[in-house]
Amino acid sequence: MRGRAPAREVERLPVEVHVSAEAASRELAAEIAALMRARAAVGRMAVVGLPTGSSPVFLYRELVRLHREDGLSFANLVTFNLDEYYGLPREHPQSYWRFMHEHLFLHVDSRAEQVHIPDGNVPRARVEEWCRDYERRIVAAGGIDLQVLGIGRTGHIGFNEPGSARNSRTRLVTLDALTRRDAARHFPSETSVPCHAITMGVGTILEAGKIVLLAWGDAKASIVAGAVEGGATEKLPASLLQGHPDVRVLLDRSAAAELTRYRDSRAGER
Ligand code: GLP
Repeated sequence: MRGRAPAREVERLPVEVHVSAEAASRELAAEIAALMRARAAVGRMAVVGLPTGSSPVFLYRELVRLHREDGLSFANLVTFNLDEYYGLPREHPQSYWRFMHEHLFLHVDSRAEQVHIPDGNVPRARVEEWCRDYERRIVAAGGIDLQVLGIGRTGHIGFNEPGSARNSRTRLVTLDALTRRDAARHFPSETSVPCHAITMGVGTILEAGKIVLLAWGDAKASIVAGAVEGGATEKLPASLLQGHPDVRVLLDRSAAAELTRYRDSRAGER
């Protein structure tokens, strides 16, 4: 349409649309491997923030492959996971501790002391102190070089649900009803999905040097469009990434489908 701004100008976050989730994940794994190797070459650790959920599964698969086939060592990687359900034992099939070990840590040469995952079993009275300590451990590690994120259908990053403050820190949160409904497919029933979780805050995430958000599939298309093209608002926590100087959103075609650049081209389709 004449006189109209090109679609990409309405995007407030840098977006990369990949042919598939696997292809995007392979590129990100190569970027993480390069960071690890560059740091190893100068005797330093790389610090990476990690998500759970289905979105990073290909990434972890590729990192394991690089370890097995290319000799990529995880000896100089320190990781901080974003979140954990509150009240699930570590061994629970749906705990994020178990997820991370099954998908990554059991298959590479990470030592336990390099791996940080929020503890969902800290007694209630000690949670705040525990969360402050998690923040201190991130700072002591030198801060997060690269933070990988997924996005929930509420727009959450980590478990920062709508209403989470831009400067929020690691804390105990209540899960949104939609988040619990989405998680229910992995649990015996919706009522067995925990109501609470410990998550890094939006402010914690925004302190990472670099942020990469992953979203695949059409179920994410509308919330992705909101985060990328809407204004930055605490009502859609992923949109708060707009305030970060080095952030990228990696999408497959389905997750990108509601962006103006594709909606406009579809408008002309028959
Ligand atoms: C959970 C996690 C989030 C994740 C989201 C999306 O709620 N706490 O960190 O981003 O799920 O999950 P999926 O990647 O399975 O769509």
